[in-house]
Amino acid sequence: MRTAFRGSVFHCLADPGEQDDEQAIAWLEDGLLVVEDGLVAELGEADALMGSLSGDTRVEDYSGKLIVPGLIDCHVHYPQIDVIASYGEELLDWLHRYAYPREMMFADEAYAREVAAFFVDELLKNGTTTALVFGTVHAHSADAIFEAAASKKMRLIAGKVLMDSNCPEELQDSAATGYEQSKQLIERWHGKGRLGYAITPRFALTSSEAQLEAAGRLAAEYPDVWVHTHLAENHDEVEQISRLFPWSSSYLDVYDRFGLVRERSVFAHCLHLQDNECRLMAESGAAAAHCPTSNMFLGSGLFDLRRLRGRQVRVGLGTDVGGGTSLSLLKTMREAYKVLHLQQQPLPPGRALYLATLGAAQALYLDDSIGNFEAGKEADFVVLDPRGTSISAHRTALAASLGELLFALIVLGDDRNIAATYLQGVRA
Ligand code: GUN
Ligand code: ZN
Repeated sequence: MRTAFRGSVFHCLADPGEQDDEQAIAWLEDGLLVVEDGLVAELGEADALMGSLSGDTRVEDYSGKLIVPGLIDCHVHYPQIDVIASYGEELLDWLHRYAYPREMMFADEAYAREVAAFFVDELLKNGTTTALVFGTVHAHSADAIFEAAASKKMRLIAGKVLMDSNCPEELQDSAATGYEQSKQLIERWHGKGRLGYAITPRFALTSSEAQLEAAGRLAAEYPDVWVHTHLAENHDEVEQISRLFPWSSSYLDVYDRFGLVRERSVFAHCLHLQDNECRLMAESGAAAAHCPTSNMFLGSGLFDLRRLRGRQVRVGLGTDVGGGTSLSLLKTMREAYKVLHLQQQPLPPGRALYLATLGAAQALYLDDSIGNFEAGKEADFVVLDPRGTSISAHRTALAASLGELLFALIVLGDDRNIAATYLQGVRA
């Protein structure tokens, strides 16, 4: 079964921050993306390819719209969709006042399922086709999000949270139960269809050394699962970590001591790092999730992309809802643009898109499957509508190039500019 999608096409082949645009970015004003059995079969100029399509190929015409790879959210908490836009605190108070009390509600399995289904629908509405997701401490919270993603055949990595100290008792597991439940979830979900498991210690502040040790043991038993946690988001957090783990040389050293820093480890935030932590991130093959809407909402700090990419650390974007203020990666890209602009680091539109597509796929070690339109990759893509809002229609009509149009969509766009989301060539 072949389907061809006609429209303007834009994707990245490398990091535009490192390579010339000609090598890093490919755009086709009038392109044709040919999909067969859910995979990219071919991409080229419509003029050249239209004539060679077999008679049974269906053509979907998105002329006037922009086809880009599916957007990838490298860090988000599905249960916190309930507390998005909760006022006025920095991280640690925000957790105690809003996040923890709400996460207790997920003890109710039916409620977890309801929120998981809503969350996955919202991701797809925003053009997000892959996400790395926190559940709650409850094992069934992971089942709920995996089932919701599986019902859409969506690519999703998730885990139940490990937390056994410095948080409300109702939200605590133990080193032993956290290990056992995570292991069962790995066996049940990891590698099933497009689903993957992430061992998910909340952060070093809420896990005992025994729990971190158990998480590391699990990571060693399952070298191809992900590790997903938070790192150096907030000054008070960093200070408490150094008091709690007096033997450590840094925050990342705590995770490293327990075998949690490796390929497929994804650390959200990474704002307040020492040089040796940047070096360890790079050497270990770990990745950073940059979450600009959250960092500004919680007043956490400014992410230094130049510093981390300068050392070749893998970086993707995360929305970090509910500390983050939107599930939209278009909005997340524009806030990344602003955060970097404040540090005299320009973020051209091609590189912003890279951080939400190929860069994120590289951060998750999924770039052999997703991230751009190379032949053989899964045909997850988004159709962006420049006319989704009156202001975006007005501004993009004046754009002199596809790059200018993409930038306007990044600065002005939201879910109204997502005309369609496709998973493996099928409209979601
Ligand atoms: N650090 C530990 N838990 C959380 C969380 O839920 N949100 C954010 N933004 N940071 C965290
Ligand atoms: Zn987070």
